[in-house]
Amino acid sequence: MLYKRSSQLFAEAEKVIPGGVNSPVRAFKAVGGTPIFVKSAKGAYLYDEDGNRLIDYINSWGPMILGHAYEPVVQAVIEKAKLGTSFGMPTELETQIAALAVSMVPNIDKIRFVNSGTEACMSAVRLARGFAKKDKIIKFAGCYHGHSDSFLIQAGSGAITFGSPNSPGVTAGTAKDTLLATYNDLENVAALIAANKNEIACIIVEPVAGNMGCIPPVAGFLEGLRQLCTDNDILLIFDEVMTGFRLAAGGVQELLNVNADIVCFGKVIGGGLPVGAFAARAEIMNYLAPLGPVYQAGTLSGNPLAMAAGLTMLQSLNNDHSVFKSLEEKTAYLHAGMDKVLRANDVDFTINRIGSMISVHFDSNPVTDFKSAAKGDNENFKKFFHGLLNEGIYIAPSAYESWFLTDALTYEDLDFTIRAVDKVSKTF
Ligand SMILES: Cc1ncc(COP(=O)(O)O)c(C=O)c1O
Repeated sequence: MLYKRSSQLFAEAEKVIPGGVNSPVRAFKAVGGTPIFVKSAKGAYLYDEDGNRLIDYINSWGPMILGHAYEPVVQAVIEKAKLGTSFGMPTELETQIAALAVSMVPNIDKIRFVNSGTEACMSAVRLARGFAKKDKIIKFAGCYHGHSDSFLIQAGSGAITFGSPNSPGVTAGTAKDTLLATYNDLENVAALIAANKNEIACIIVEPVAGNMGCIPPVAGFLEGLRQLCTDNDILLIFDEVMTGFRLAAGGVQELLNVNADIVCFGKVIGGGLPVGAFAARAEIMNYLAPLGPVYQAGTLSGNPLAMAAGLTMLQSLNNDHSVFKSLEEKTAYLHAGMDKVLRANDVDFTINRIGSMISVHFDSNPVTDFKSAAKGDNENFKKFFHGLLNEGIYIAPSAYESWFLTDALTYEDLDFTIRAVDKVSKTF
């Protein structure tokens, strides 16, 4: 496939945008080459500036669960735009989407809307700290909760006691309050809690990790976290920015039957417009301004275009829960097909999947945490990525990302993809 115009557009973008992109992973740094510039998208397909059609397995990193340019969302946004795009004043629409979200998700009474997953997680942690009146938080290595300072932390020399910044600009003062744990390792979490008795406000976790490839929780991990939090007076935050309204109508809380204290949303909840949200029991949410002392705000939060898109998306999903089954079946079909051809071609690989999140790791050992995810063969991943791209299939340009399937995919698309995986993996 030719990417001449994309390359030209990228060169122009680089002159005026750092790295030519507004979010780093778009830049193809992990796989080499230049990013593809999109002109339009419909259903399961992207159409780029060179006229290529690509089957999309990323779907804007998750939101387009019912396909690109999903007609009901497009219509809702057009109709609302005619009435004004932002007021900075309350609208009935905000209550409608809030009520629907609260009815779909277990264990929450109130929800606050923001503009991104980053804002949702940042605000959830502030609320947890304010409510618990404690400063420290535990996060897991390899889990991503957006780019706010408290989350850009790597293991410090004394990993058991405190982390260190993993980006210049994050202060050591901030880093010392973020403790880093190993995903799927309850003993490690228990040791951190014991070493920081009565100092930990919350544990934030992707209940199904999607930022080190897809890594489901091992049996008992989430239940164990719940117990540790209850026993030690710690709030449990599920970051369901990826999983919320994707793995089930009620997210992982519903799917795996474990309750969190605060839940964060993004992606699907905005139907492709910039929306995030965080939610909890009334007792916790009432701690937020203007009712309570924890401050959080936003000029464009709850703006009518975003709320119209989000409400329409949630209504579509809620009206027909069979979509989650359909997505699961399509993803399981892709899983089985890729498994078969990769095995036949003698490739070292592990496929992780839960519902419509799936990833191929190029290592034959189980991938359960950041360390095991990092062992994947990146050279094979690069060949895989570019090989599939050449066949007209777009997966994330990084081995550390989950794929997000859309229900707009047909079984013909999936068969085409499995044949492409077969062809490409023969070149390893
Ligand atoms: C689990 C998780 N939390 C938070 C975020 C941040 O969301 P946003 O990019 O909308 O700020 C992401 C983004 O990919 C995510 O995957």
